[in-house]
Amino acid sequence: MKSKPSLLGGLTVNEFLRDYWQKKPLLIRQAFPKFNGLIDPQQLIALACTEDVQARLVTQRRGKFELQQAPFEPEDLENLGKIKWTVLVQGVNHHIPEAAALLKHFAFIPHARLDDLMVSYAPKGGGVGPHFDSYDVFLLQGYGHRRWQISTQADRSLIAGAPLRILRDFKVEQEWVLKPGDMLYLPPHCAHNGIAEDDCMTYSIGFRTPAYQELAEQFLVYLQDRIDVDGMYADPDLKTQKHPSEISAAMLHQTEQAIKQVRWDKEDIANFLGCYLSEPKTHIFFDAPEPVLSPAKFKQAIQKLGVRLALKSQMLCHDGWIFINGEEHRVNQRDYPVLRSLADERELPTVKDGSIELIELLYQWYLDGYISPI
Ligand code: SIN
Ligand code: CO
Repeated sequence: MKSKPSLLGGLTVNEFLRDYWQKKPLLIRQAFPKFNGLIDPQQLIALACTEDVQARLVTQRRGKFELQQAPFEPEDLENLGKIKWTVLVQGVNHHIPEAAALLKHFAFIPHARLDDLMVSYAPKGGGVGPHFDSYDVFLLQGYGHRRWQISTQADRSLIAGAPLRILRDFKVEQEWVLKPGDMLYLPPHCAHNGIAEDDCMTYSIGFRTPAYQELAEQFLVYLQDRIDVDGMYADPDLKTQKHPSEISAAMLHQTEQAIKQVRWDKEDIANFLGCYLSEPKTHIFFDAPEPVLSPAKFKQAIQKLGVRLALKSQMLCHDGWIFINGEEHRVNQRDYPVLRSLADERELPTVKDGSIELIELLYQWYLDGYISPI
């Protein structure tokens, strides 16, 4: 799906990337003309009460914020009375096809950067308080109106002991009321505060920016299953030492040489990234098909009508490697562009010219619930 011309308020994608992306906020009036949201508050509340859905309820009593995490019962989100509150549901694109389709408008940003679509609902006055996020976000207004206040302040100190990350001293620099279809882009660390002006739903398209520390730690986790270090400790020339408790220079040297055998190259880093960035969050489970098509019926179905990714699937690729939901697969040169196209578009209209290995791989993914015939 191509992006709407209005999406960036008259800017080309290249102009937006050059002047705003990761640099400064951008308000886009009527980015999505006629957009009024994809679901209503009742549907969002039902989703918040669904097993395996990450959701939060934020309430404000006399200016003090409180936080409750899912699982919720419908009663938790009813009769909240006169207090200010908001419910926020992560990964709405994993459950609602129209939400996944909305994300396709943002495909000018690589899939590897995408986190998910979060949707919030708040009656008048609700919000999560002034804060900053460490990711890029497009805040698209669904139905209702939300006042957004922002600040590029350097002071990021938070209220100590609060259950949410609330800025201690938020100094509003700019503010706007967004109506349905308006959108605000915020780069990481731009302080913001969204207050519902009336019954209001906001769609947050979030893009992850992993900390280097996280990348490095996770790379070591990835590497530990793949290293190949020869030999074992040996000391046929062992000498006596004055302090038996001391680690000797010889032992240290031998271990250093062993550890120096741990090597990695760019392909290891690419494969780590593919696995790490396509890894489903821990609460995500895939549903096996029911009833199951036989391999022959599956092949017939995908050759005729094509195949699509399950809403929860994340698929990336790099140089002959395909990554899906944390798994890596080396594929042949003929199948790679076919699978890359599936990863790009999240569907293939037909799978006519695939190798036997491709059909087998797709069948395995079908059994795992990663894909389904259209
Ligand atoms: C909201 O939708 O209320 C919160 C979004 C955000 O501030 O990140
Ligand atoms: Co935020």
